[in-house]
Amino acid sequence: MIYLNGHYMPIAEARISPMDRGFLFGDGAYELIPVYSRRPFRPDEHLARLVHTLDGIRLANPLSLPQWRAVIEHLVSGNQGEDQSIYIQVTRGADVKRDHPFPKGVPPTVFVMSAPLVTAAPELLQTGVACVSAADNRWLRCNLKTVSLLANVLLRQEAVDAGCAETILFRDGFLSEGAASNIFIVRDGLLLAPPKGHLMLPGITYDVVLELAQKHGLSYEVRDILEAEVRAADEIWMTSSTKEVLPVTTLDGRPVGTGKPGALAVAMYSWYQDFKRTVMRGAES
Ligand code: PDD
Repeated sequence: MIYLNGHYMPIAEARISPMDRGFLFGDGAYELIPVYSRRPFRPDEHLARLVHTLDGIRLANPLSLPQWRAVIEHLVSGNQGEDQSIYIQVTRGADVKRDHPFPKGVPPTVFVMSAPLVTAAPELLQTGVACVSAADNRWLRCNLKTVSLLANVLLRQEAVDAGCAETILFRDGFLSEGAASNIFIVRDGLLLAPPKGHLMLPGITYDVVLELAQKHGLSYEVRDILEAEVRAADEIWMTSSTKEVLPVTTLDGRPVGTGKPGALAVAMYSWYQDFKRTVMRGAES
């Protein structure tokens, strides 16, 4: 069951006009909320990020926060699976003609669906994942989660073509993020995270990783990270709602550190799994 413009229906019955600006221009916002044991994780933070994206692209938020929460709850209970991913998309709607400026009096298209939540296999902690790198050729508003993802799609495909998990992006000699994830590095026992800003998406998992570092006494710094520092790092991690925390063990075919998942990646992975069991799944509430 999905939600489309105020109605719940099977996905096979959902119809969207080819004049929709999401289709014609990639003119819209999206969010992805992981759901563990039928509990959406940090829905308010994801909805705040959605509102930030909508404000950033000058699209009025079509639903109130209680309405958004109600749609999410309805889909989580109406779909199968304890663990789900809720995908939200809002576009600037369908006008009668194709024209770049905002249409007048056209309602937005609001689409929400649930899919099974597919997280990384635990075996990947033993090996880590391989990544390639590329120049970050996206626009300068990467803090917005917009459906115009062609640059991310092309960059991510470079990783797939090379048999790798992700493409790590550098802009003007500095680390920005992955094509669909945030990137951290470890040097001399210190965790380094690039600062939030217009060059990367402010990840919800990024926040969790820094909170867990704080909680467990792992020192970290949030600052600009040079490409050279990434290439000389002891550890590289990638994070996202679906990948959670994964160690990167090769970059462009060269080993990261020892070429095996580092001690701090293994520690963070287990803190994250523990957090997932106790907080996300609510085993302690
Ligand atoms: N992507 N950076 C980019 C470019 C991303 O697309 C994502 C997530 C992240 C991590 O954000 P979070 O921790 O909130 O998931 C960082 C989602 C999963 C996607 O596009 O499917």
